Amino acid sequence: MIHRAKSTINLKALRHNLEIARSHANKRKVVAVIKANAYGHGLVPVAEALQAADIFGVTDIDEADQLNASGCDKAILILQGIIERSDIARIARHGHQLVIHNLEHLSWLEEELDKINFAKPLSFWLKMNSGMGRLGIMPADFVSAYRSLQSKPWCHEVILMTHLANANLRDSALNQQQLDTFDAISALIPDAATSIPASSALLAGFGKRSTWIRPGIMLYGSSPFAFPNEQSRRESFGLQAVMTLQARLISIQNCKAGDNVGYCSQFICPRDMRIGIVSIGYADGYPSNAPNGTPVIINNKRTVTTGRVSMDMLAIDLSPAPDARIGDSVTLWGEELSLDEIAEHTGILSYNLTCSIASRVTREYQN
Ligand SMILES: Cc1ncc(COP(=O)(O)O)c(C=O)c1O
Repeated sequence: MIHRAKSTINLKALRHNLEIARSHANKRKVVAVIKANAYGHGLVPVAEALQAADIFGVTDIDEADQLNASGCDKAILILQGIIERSDIARIARHGHQLVIHNLEHLSWLEEELDKINFAKPLSFWLKMNSGMGRLGIMPADFVSAYRSLQSKPWCHEVILMTHLANANLRDSALNQQQLDTFDAISALIPDAATSIPASSALLAGFGKRSTWIRPGIMLYGSSPFAFPNEQSRRESFGLQAVMTLQARLISIQNCKAGDNVGYCSQFICPRDMRIGIVSIGYADGYPSNAPNGTPVIINNKRTVTTGRVSMDMLAIDLSPAPDARIGDSVTLWGEELSLDEIAEHTGILSYNLTCSIASRVTREYQN
């Protein structure tokens, strides 16, 4: 039951989506990207559901510690790398795999790891800035960084990685430029494993030769491409919704034409209307900028929001659902109403929508 607001996480759909990612992987290995609290779906339960992944990708050592504390014994890759020097000893102690994305961190590693006696050499993912302009070692410095890392007694393996900036914009020239840059440099290190594609690159077919794929958003049942393109919606890839967000109808107003609904007169009733008040607002993570007309579902009927989203509630048009009663449940997104459609209406990425769900929203897991 929903009390006030609830997100239901469908673990079966999550596992299904991992299989979809694998079906595009063509025997490549899978980093299941579960960073940022599994994109707001809950780090530990998501990791438990995704045991079929080869390794988990988390943000930082703190998320890795949470996984270890839960009993997770799968390999963990720390995608944001080192935040401060003291992380290095913690990472080494647990044998985590680590992204190295700048030369300064490489020299920190040399200084810190030379001092530590540990049983098992570590694996590193050396990240190239091939054009993303965010994290990564510049191509000109990449081979020497690789050779230096690879020569260390504490280094087991170095995997070469890069991240594409525009893979969700399939026609962007930057995709090929980044791939060419990465391929040219990695050809100088022929035996090393590589990793390029996240969800959009995987589904667009970029980086087909890389050893590892790194899907994130597709695991959560959202398409990385723009919603208006019907061929790129989640259904076209066989992805299933993972999070369903629901709240309750807590009041009904019988409004007259010309009546105001909510703050700042963002909605004035164009006719006599039944307006439903729903127990979810921006303090729960529902986007405050959702315009009039953002879709919701009540009693299997689609309708829309009316007026500005408040802190703890929002208003909807009950015209398509004359049977709606106080206490009914309202779906903000889920199986019947794609998260991607809400992203399109609000201009807020699906990633951002699920990551923003507040802790006061009850989370329930379904197997
Ligand atoms: C380095 C890296 N790899 C993989 C991913 C997963 O990307 P996506 O969620 O678009 O699949 C991310 C996400 O931000 C990332 O930063």
